[in-house]
Amino acid sequence: MTALPFPVAEEPDAESAEAGRMLFAGGTEFVKGVVAMSGLPASDRLEVCFAGRSNVGKSSLINALTGRKGLARASNTPGRTQEINFFATGENHYLVDLPGYGFANAPTAVVAKWQALLKQYLSGRQSLRRAFVLIDARHGVKKVDDEILSLLDGAAVTFQAVLTKADKVKEADRARILDQVRTALAKHPAAFPEIVVTSSEKGWGIPTLRSIIAELE
Ligand code: GTP
Ligand code: MG
Repeated sequence: MTALPFPVAEEPDAESAEAGRMLFAGGTEFVKGVVAMSGLPASDRLEVCFAGRSNVGKSSLINALTGRKGLARASNTPGRTQEINFFATGENHYLVDLPGYGFANAPTAVVAKWQALLKQYLSGRQSLRRAFVLIDARHGVKKVDDEILSLLDGAAVTFQAVLTKADKVKEADRARILDQVRTALAKHPAAFPEIVVTSSEKGWGIPTLRSIIAELE
């Protein structure tokens, strides 16, 4: 059988799982929220960011990874995370919660400001090792997602697709959505060739994602 491109990332082996566990056992603290490039902390840690449409589950995923429920605010109000939020994990990592893009009712000027900041951050951050682009497992890749993926291609930042809220998808729909995501990713040279399937609610995919982050260099 020919391997499909963009397989779902496998569960980590014992060693990788332990590396991931150890990284997050080091604790995570909120560092600062940033609204302009001038406010970014020094690039002295390995950095990963979490991008995705408003309400896709970025903050919830950070909470699940770090095991700290109230760390990154998760809410039902789309667009709640309006700053680039930096979290320090252990001694050597930053986790970055990006403002959600593509939600309907924001004033145009506000949207333009976020987009500009997002673009500057994604293309100008030297210590950024990987962007995790969160995709709602019920909806697949939408047009606004695709725009961000193109931005990442342009910025030459490797991104990895992370499906969120997998607990809300019926088994029957799962393969179809995954194939839609694969087709969309195939158009993007900066796409990392594995998809992570997660549920922050159920803890699915969390050890996998932890070990992926722990193994970045
Ligand atoms: P913004 O900061 O507005 O861009 O949103 P966000 O991407 O940070 O989303 P957030 O984590 O705030 O989650 C949005 C909503 O989805 C909340 O009501 C969460 O409880 C819910 N949610 C997030 N992850 C999951 C999941 O894995 N499963 C289920 N069932 N709900 C989830
Ligand atoms: Mg958020």
